[in-house]
Amino acid sequence: MSVRRRRSCLTVPGDDERKLAKAAALAVDEVILDLEDAVAAGRKDGARETVARALRDHDWRAATVAVRVNRGSAEDLDLVRAARPDVVVLPKVESPDELAGLPVPAEAQIETARGLVECERIAAAPGLEALVLGPGDLAASLGVPELTIGEGAHVEYALARVVVAARAFGLAAVDGPFVVLGDEAGLRASALRSRAFGYDGKWCIHPAQVEICNEVYAPTPAEVERARRILGVAGVARLDGEMVDEANRRMAEAILARLPPGS
Ligand code: COA
Ligand code: MG
Repeated sequence: MSVRRRRSCLTVPGDDERKLAKAAALAVDEVILDLEDAVAAGRKDGARETVARALRDHDWRAATVAVRVNRGSAEDLDLVRAARPDVVVLPKVESPDELAGLPVPAEAQIETARGLVECERIAAAPGLEALVLGPGDLAASLGVPELTIGEGAHVEYALARVVVAARAFGLAAVDGPFVVLGDEAGLRASALRSRAFGYDGKWCIHPAQVEICNEVYAPTPAEVERARRILGVAGVARLDGEMVDEANRRMAEAILARLPPGS
């Protein structure tokens, strides 16, 4: 599994210098400089220049700095080849062929009906580190009649399928964004839902979402304490009125794997 943490992955419009400067200073696990859907069609050339400059000039606090390209854009991939961000995010991936020959590790967004039915084959592609669920585009692709990204009934099936595909090939699994601004309870509920499926983290669209995601996708102190006690048990035993056995040891290890390296 990839060692990068991805509890919070903040997307930033690639043509917005102010937001790029702000994002550079944030304690977020990953920043995604977006050339795709946050940038209007007529502003793509300027956005490439702005992103290249921002990658070069800012001192990025995030451990991982990514660029999201437009599907099929040779110019965007040229930028990635020249500027070498840590990761490239590919949107609307529908085939493992789209991941061939990339200059840096990749994350693939699964956000169309075709991408979802192909996600196991996509997950097997070399150079891929994560699958990212894109709930808005997926709703559009499926014909789901909703206008707010990310909360419809279709999301649960996609969450389940995408995390299974990711884990089957040792990849990280990342949930899409919660888009209602200022709704902390809604964000927390959305993050807890994908955490319960096993997700490592979630896209954030606003700085105010970062801390909540960093908290939700990390193990709680009570989970860490119980996981450590479970690791003290060999074979089968009664612990706090519950049967625990070797399967619980593996579950405890999965909890502890969410801690920062070295803790
Ligand atoms: N990254 C970095 N900084 C951001 C930001 C982001 N994604 N979103 C907002 N900010 C900054 C603003 O620049 C502002 O900073 P300032 O006070 O120093 O000017 C501050 O955070 C507060 O922003 P706010 O006024 O609450 O947001 P807004 O109403 O201007 O913008 C959005 C709302 C949704 C347009 C904006 O959050 C955004 O662009 N999000 C990212 C969208 C995106 O990338 N979508 C594609 C992938 S899903
Ligand atoms: Mg999308």
